[in-house]
Amino acid sequence: MKVGILISGGGSNMVALVNAMQAGRVPATPALVLSNRPGAAGLAKARALGVPVAIVDHTAFPSRRAFDSGVHRTLRAHHVDMVCLAGFMRILGRRMVGTWQGNMLNIHPSLLPKYRGLNTHARAIEAGDTEAGATVHRVTAELDDGPILAQARVPILSGDTPDTLAARVLKEEHRIYPQALAQALRERLGMPPEPPI
Ligand code: GRF
Repeated sequence: MKVGILISGGGSNMVALVNAMQAGRVPATPALVLSNRPGAAGLAKARALGVPVAIVDHTAFPSRRAFDSGVHRTLRAHHVDMVCLAGFMRILGRRMVGTWQGNMLNIHPSLLPKYRGLNTHARAIEAGDTEAGATVHRVTAELDDGPILAQARVPILSGDTPDTLAARVLKEEHRIYPQALAQALRERLGMPPEPPI
């Protein structure tokens, strides 16, 4: 199975996914890292890991639909079976999501269904929540929605800022995203889930 990872920024989740595949902890090959931003720092990290990279710059397309089909064609050209959105900051259209339905995962830095969208950590702190977390889910046409594959919880500590909380959550993201990808791949291959250790 070939995995394509879509990024827009630093790509730390992408690195966690690629490391897990290259170490044999996830039964798949990282076939492509695609960024919509030419300056994304994650691109250099992907190259250093020996993963093919592509830039599909959204500003070069006249419409979202045209951008989506540029992304789609690039994924197909690299024979991608499963897509992981990893800090990919563009919303994909219904048609694109429908085409990949069941084979596209996303990680979101909140305990969904709480705090869809942006600034999740600031919103959780502001609301006085005592815990935050991250969710891996299958992508559907609704933003930050779709069946949940994995969730991790962390405490919100007094004195936390959105940045300190983000760092704590990010560590958990790097743990659960490879696990959730492995589970999705096993399901797709008709294999039973891994027994708990
Ligand atoms: C992560 O917190 C992810 O959940 C969110 O954007 C951030 C991306 O971080 N969607 P990175 O690019 O993987 O380091």
